[in-house]
Amino acid sequence: MELVHDESRQGEVFVHPAAASQPFRKFFYIESYGCAMNFADSEVIASLLLQEGYGPTPQPDNAHLILINTCSIRDKAEQTIRRRLTALRVVKQKNPAALVGILGCMAERLKEKLLEQEQLVDLVVGPDAYRSLPALIASADEGNKAVNVLLSREETYGDIAPVRLNSNGVTAFISIMRGCNNMCSFCVVPFTRGRERSRDLPSILQEARQLVADGYREVTLLGQNVDSYYWMDEAKGEPVTFAQLLESVALISPLLRVRFSTSHPKDITEEVLQTIKRYRNICQYIHLPVQSGSNRILQLMNRTYTREWYLAKVARIREVLPDSGLSTDIIAGFCTETEEDHQATIDLMEQCDYDLAYMYFYSERPGTLAERRYDDDVPEEIKKRRLQEIIDLHRIQSLRNMQKELNRTWEVLIEGNSKKSDEQWQGRTSHNKMVIFPKNGQTAKGDYVQVHIIDCTAGTLLGVQVEEPVLNNA
Ligand code: SAH
Ligand code: SF4
Ligand code: F3S
Repeated sequence: MELVHDESRQGEVFVHPAAASQPFRKFFYIESYGCAMNFADSEVIASLLLQEGYGPTPQPDNAHLILINTCSIRDKAEQTIRRRLTALRVVKQKNPAALVGILGCMAERLKEKLLEQEQLVDLVVGPDAYRSLPALIASADEGNKAVNVLLSREETYGDIAPVRLNSNGVTAFISIMRGCNNMCSFCVVPFTRGRERSRDLPSILQEARQLVADGYREVTLLGQNVDSYYWMDEAKGEPVTFAQLLESVALISPLLRVRFSTSHPKDITEEVLQTIKRYRNICQYIHLPVQSGSNRILQLMNRTYTREWYLAKVARIREVLPDSGLSTDIIAGFCTETEEDHQATIDLMEQCDYDLAYMYFYSERPGTLAERRYDDDVPEEIKKRRLQEIIDLHRIQSLRNMQKELNRTWEVLIEGNSKKSDEQWQGRTSHNKMVIFPKNGQTAKGDYVQVHIIDCTAGTLLGVQVEEPVLNNA
């Protein structure tokens, strides 16, 4: 999935081969929404429930537990969940013994209020309270509505081995930190996920090693702000930085690709860039959300950098890693944004020439600094028009960047069959471009192959394999 938001995965249901082969007494059904962190949490939740003897089921109809792992980032995300809850009323009528649980960010934001607003909800569990699920389920089974939305300063679920969600067997997420200490004025995450804390290095490395042993060939290290990873190695009496963590994961195996997301422009360090450069298996792809190109708006957003600082960072990335992919997030129509501010964003986009951008119009979130301090005063049609201009420019730029890949040869990690045909593989380059190419009968999922690019669409490169593969068990 793209590292932060993947529209195609919203509402994805957990399926796992264990369900068919094991005699479970009770089943859980879980749908996930939001960012990669939420999908990674669903893998922790699945692990906790399997330990309790629950098997996963892909239908809510026969489930004892119906869980929705939710997102609050924009109003639209919450509306999607509300619609799902309305649809689930029919399921609950047919399966009245089922418990319905709301997990994740919307649970944290709305707490007990969710029980009043949505009659069918039995459980409300925040992102730091998943260990209490068995106790909450037991209580709900006795007819009590159960809520745990306590946030923690320590919880990282470091000791829980996630059960991989709908895995392709090649790529996986590893959560390395939780929460966020930045206070971007538009953002609900610090309220829903709590204080920032980093997971211990040994359990991260153990998880990565296990993935390699299980045949995985790519991990994405996840956090809202990975560059502020900080873990004190008491044995050595030294802290471990994100650059050191990256290096340690890269050293596990040259066949393991390492990606990471998300970097805050103020925190990504020279050391991180140099580490990426030093290791062939650290992917040359940086997601660097800018949000706006206007200094006045950046200040209101409390992003703590200026346009000039950001552009200098991008210039440095291009200097150290000339082939690196670069992506961003942009918000159109933040409070008080003028046409001039908007043009500054367009102009910044022209300069950065992003490969990929996630673009949104501003959605006011209750409780945030922006909601308390500023007027959400840009009319919706203007927000949408500006967003459309941003999207249109991005389309032109990303297609042009795809066309630049024609006639080049890239190493591709095979992730599986292409969506359209079993005769073709799909995989990605280090700089995160999706490549599709015909199978030649000698390659398998998880192999690295050299692919010469002969054509492209807006989202995909098309190529032909040009050399023998590096087999994944080499
Ligand atoms: N931690 C990441 C972002 C997490 S949220 C970072 O700092 O970059 C993912 C994206 O959602 C943000 O980058 C932002 O572009 C968007 N977003 C967050 N809050 C929003 C809001 N209130 N309205 C519109 N978009 C928002
Ligand atoms: Fe939200 Fe800012 Fe933290 Fe990202 S860095 S999660 S945008 S507060
Ligand atoms: Fe992620 Fe949405 Fe929560 S973006 S951190 S699931 S509010």
